[in-house]
Amino acid sequence: MFRNKSINNLKPYKVTSHKAWEYKEDKNVLKLDWNEATILPSPMVEKRLENVIKNGRLNWYPDTNNIVLLNKISKYNNVNVSNVQYFASSDALHEYIVRCFIGESDRVLIIGPTYDNFRAVAESNGAQIQNYYLNSSFELDYGKFLEDLKLIQPKVVYIVNPNNPTGTLHPKEELINLIQSNTDIFFIVDEAYYEFSGITLSQEVKKYKNVLISRTFSKAFALASFRIGYTISHEDNIEVLNSIRNPKNVSLFAQEAAVAALSDIEYTKNYVKDVLNTKTNFSKAIKKFHWIDVVYEGTGNFVFFSFKEVKQKKELLKFFSENKIFIRDYGHIDLTNKFVRITMGKSTEMSRVLEALNTFDSEFVS
Ligand SMILES: Cc1ncc(COP(=O)(O)O)c(C=O)c1O
Repeated sequence: MFRNKSINNLKPYKVTSHKAWEYKEDKNVLKLDWNEATILPSPMVEKRLENVIKNGRLNWYPDTNNIVLLNKISKYNNVNVSNVQYFASSDALHEYIVRCFIGESDRVLIIGPTYDNFRAVAESNGAQIQNYYLNSSFELDYGKFLEDLKLIQPKVVYIVNPNNPTGTLHPKEELINLIQSNTDIFFIVDEAYYEFSGITLSQEVKKYKNVLISRTFSKAFALASFRIGYTISHEDNIEVLNSIRNPKNVSLFAQEAAVAALSDIEYTKNYVKDVLNTKTNFSKAIKKFHWIDVVYEGTGNFVFFSFKEVKQKKELLKFFSENKIFIRDYGHIDLTNKFVRITMGKSTEMSRVLEALNTFDSEFVS
């Protein structure tokens, strides 16, 4: 009865099963459903946090303008400090983006299928959402998209690069072309998986005011539990975000963990290398199963694939779950109900998954 009008018809962001948490004490559980890192963060994180617990100002509110962290983020991305700001996750950043830049009835175009949180947040603020679907191979026709933008005239475009769950990588030149030909459209580019793709628009924020990048420490940096992310954008946009940002909301532990993670980039680079090698081998290996249909290796830390039959997908999800391997059912993505996404871990972990797949193949598939 007291709900906002925009909440009345809202399709909520669906939080999928987090069953892996029931096995959090179990060393054998493989949590491959939410694209988190499968390793712990750099040992430097633990060391720094031990020091924070011993000597930190735990009774104070956290630093509201952690210049050490801001400097590290700007250096890592080769931009000025005035071009970055940190938030309590990229999801939290999305809420600020919506509050700052998207009002009632503003048209938001989302290139999908994709990560659904931004849609839910924008919709809850009364935005008019329009989806623009990738083609059946999960690719975008950039020429057509450019033309369609003229017709649709959105205020904001949300684009995930590389895209989750399809792994689609939008080439930098194509995105730059879109941005410079549409200076009246605000492009939110979610680069949650940047460390895996190596492709970024970070340098474009120096030239264009109509692009804002969203980044996270939850994936390659292995800090998902801390909740910390950041944005890279033109300083005018950072100023707007700062005008309503609650600076107390990023915990001291999250700030210090991010500083430590950025002090040990080699650790992250090695992890990314292992994941990417493993992904190539894994994608190749699963193509041999006759019950798997199409495999999208993509450019993130995950592989997206479809089954020939829904029945086999359901059986595999059940078999995996019984073996404490959790992957993400993406049946809802289209009418075929045949897609799943699996996060890539280290080579040792994915060998275990392949072993399980071989067992499934020989014992269960009819
Ligand atoms: C594209 C994308 N953006 C953002 C997020 C969430 O990141 P964070 O943990 O910083 O909220 C995810 C998590 O799956 C994601 O896939």
